[in-house]
Amino acid sequence: MSIYILAIETSCDETAIAISKDDKIIVSLVASQIKLHQPYGGVVPEIAAREHIQTIIPLIHEAMSQANITQKDISAISATAGPGLSPSLMIGIDTAKNLAFAWNKPFIATNHLHGHIYSLFLEDNMPKNPFPLLTLLVSGGHTQIILMTDHLSFKVLGKTRDDAAGEAFDKVASMLDLPYPGGPEISKQATGGKPDHYRFTTPLQKEKTLDFSFSGTKTQALRHLQQEHKITADVIQNMSASFQAHTTTYLLSNLFEAAHQTTPKTIAITGGVSANTRLRDHFIDRCKLELPETIPILPQLKHTTDNAAMIARATYEQYKRGDFADFSTIANPKLSI
Ligand code: KG4
Ligand code: ZN
Repeated sequence: MSIYILAIETSCDETAIAISKDDKIIVSLVASQIKLHQPYGGVVPEIAAREHIQTIIPLIHEAMSQANITQKDISAISATAGPGLSPSLMIGIDTAKNLAFAWNKPFIATNHLHGHIYSLFLEDNMPKNPFPLLTLLVSGGHTQIILMTDHLSFKVLGKTRDDAAGEAFDKVASMLDLPYPGGPEISKQATGGKPDHYRFTTPLQKEKTLDFSFSGTKTQALRHLQQEHKITADVIQNMSASFQAHTTTYLLSNLFEAAHQTTPKTIAITGGVSANTRLRDHFIDRCKLELPETIPILPQLKHTTDNAAMIARATYEQYKRGDFADFSTIANPKLSI
């Protein structure tokens, strides 16, 4: 019998619903709130929660009708339990628990970070057994290097000690008066700029560590900009190109160091920042050159930023293990991997 999962993702500013049949996604819908938050230069939790409340039931209804299934077909209902914004997470969890209770189905609480990693398992070229799998998870809230030796078994080899890489993209974009979210804007502006125009130092060089730090990079960007008389189009393009080049090289240098230490079968990048073209291109180039035996995997662009397809795929593994949650489960904004 096939396993149908209804998955809900509301950890930040996307209301997302997916329905999977076994390990395949049959419907994935994302309602983005970016336009609502843009005037504030970032996500406003109260606005995000209100919008999730308005959108979530109609979106579930739409997903069920596109999938052409009824509640009888569903095997389990899951929601992202954390990490994320508490008011946003609560809407998804509450909706999932209420539906599971009303429909008499198991409820599964899924970790958002597991979801980002499981986006890789939606790729056609992902091997059936990809382990050991080394992943750089790089998003607006997290920057970690993770080794998986089996399903749902994660070992963190390195992580940021301060800001996440996506957060640094967003903050530098805001210094340049570019709209939120900053990552895609920096990436666009970078195409016209010189990647070696502004210099950035690489942090933690004296330590033998796979950890990251981005707070210094942010400060250096601010210092460079303070020395300019005016923030012209050239300054914006050159800063975007230089910051992007530094950040992508830095991310990859730790990932490849981890790869040389662990010789994984498969290597991947996931999370919102993995949408970055320069990061993707340099990742593939370095894999070809340095790791010819390792299989490189990149998620499709639609699976890099927040979505429920990745949550459904992680939930499916939890379902197979009987990892069900009880109805007293609450959101955990600080949940770790
Ligand atoms: O995974 P995600 O949607 O949300 C979190 O779980 O945090 O990641 C969002 C982050 C934002 O910081 C955004 O600026 C960044 O991903 N991002 C990018 C690009 N597209 C999104 N960063 C660099 N280049 C991009 N093309
Ligand atoms: Zn995310």
